[in-house]
Amino acid sequence: MENNRPVWTSKYAFIITAIGSAVGLGNIWRFPYVMGQNGGAIFLVTYILLICTICFIPLLNELYVGKLTKKECVGAYEAINPKFKYFGALNPITGILISAFYFIVGGWIINYICKWKLLSQISDYGEYFSKFIAEPVYPCLLTLLFIFICVYFTARGLKNGIEKANKIFMPMLAILLIFLVIISLNLPDAQKGLEYMFKPDFSKLNFHMVLAALGQAFFTLSIGMGALLTYGSYIKEDKTLVKSVYTIILSDTTFALLAGIMIFPAVFSFGMEPNSGAGLVFVTLPKIFSQIPFGDLISFAFFVLLFCAAVTSGISIVEGPCATLTERFNMSRQKACALLFVIISLIAIPTTLSFGILGDFKVFGKTLFDFLDYLTSNLMLPSNTLILCLISGWYLKIKGYKILKNKFSESLFDIGLKFIVPIALIFLIIAGLK
Ligand code: PHE
Repeated sequence: MENNRPVWTSKYAFIITAIGSAVGLGNIWRFPYVMGQNGGAIFLVTYILLICTICFIPLLNELYVGKLTKKECVGAYEAINPKFKYFGALNPITGILISAFYFIVGGWIINYICKWKLLSQISDYGEYFSKFIAEPVYPCLLTLLFIFICVYFTARGLKNGIEKANKIFMPMLAILLIFLVIISLNLPDAQKGLEYMFKPDFSKLNFHMVLAALGQAFFTLSIGMGALLTYGSYIKEDKTLVKSVYTIILSDTTFALLAGIMIFPAVFSFGMEPNSGAGLVFVTLPKIFSQIPFGDLISFAFFVLLFCAAVTSGISIVEGPCATLTERFNMSRQKACALLFVIISLIAIPTTLSFGILGDFKVFGKTLFDFLDYLTSNLMLPSNTLILCLISGWYLKIKGYKILKNKFSESLFDIGLKFIVPIALIFLIIAGLK
């Protein structure tokens, strides 16, 4: 089986696909509203500090374990020690659960793209959004369509599906983002938004905000569900990883910053609130678009941009479980993807309905959507990362594998894997439990 494993056609293909995984709804939908709810600039400073230090370690580690073992998640953990394979299995399970709520948002995006002409005529955007997501059939169909798109590219394989999609969608995303940033910066009072983003108010510094920044950093880098481990396993022997990790972190942060620069000046220019939560992108922004010249076209461009970001991340979410099915159960990629389409749909449909007819069905006091979001983002992603760091730090003894250039950075990396990152993650998990 091992010899049939695909490999990246080039280093560029690997990097752009890994960036495609990292840059997603986490950057454009989640980052601005989490930042809005956590004090703006001070959150940004904390986030950048964490992403360059604590997050660097598990990101490099996950890619490295993939590259070293050349196996999908379960096999990779098993290769380190057969006892660990059950921990490995948590990764594709997390992937399937994440996709069930992530892809619902993908479906909403498709709706906003299709309705670009009508959006400017709506009188109450909040009401429109809550009515739309509560409908029983239409959002489910859109969710299914979005699942199909992600699964389709994954089914076509590494070269003809995954790489190709990223090579098309990522440059499109970058161009649209720069275009919208320029428009946003030219709105009246745009500097107020920039001040909010870049002028830290140290009185807002608190532990809860630090943990929110850490959680956001892990989510946005796609750490903790085996997507990157699987991508890492397709790297040929001779590639240098550390440089790639810097590139991924730098690009992901740049995209998040640009998303903030696109959104906050517009929000402040129209005297709106930056902390409106998840509705920022689906309620506040369309309202703003309706008030600016060529707003319908701008709205169209924005939701296409969001779509590109979501699809490339969605593909990476599907690829982890897909690789596990193909390699462990000897399935063809097409069969594995068809099966994943069915499994993800079966979880995603009731989750979509949790905004409407299944709204009263609660799991631990939460709707299905909120529960899956909570379970995966707050608990499963950090727990998986915690387990992999401990396994690598204590069992794999990565120190001897010479991924870093000098002894000093090797030791830092080792201490990070064994102690610093696990402690930070334990705090994150405990905070997430409440
Ligand atoms: N990093 C993606 C984003 O920012 C989300 C994601 C999480 C993708 C985990 C894969 C794995 O939207």
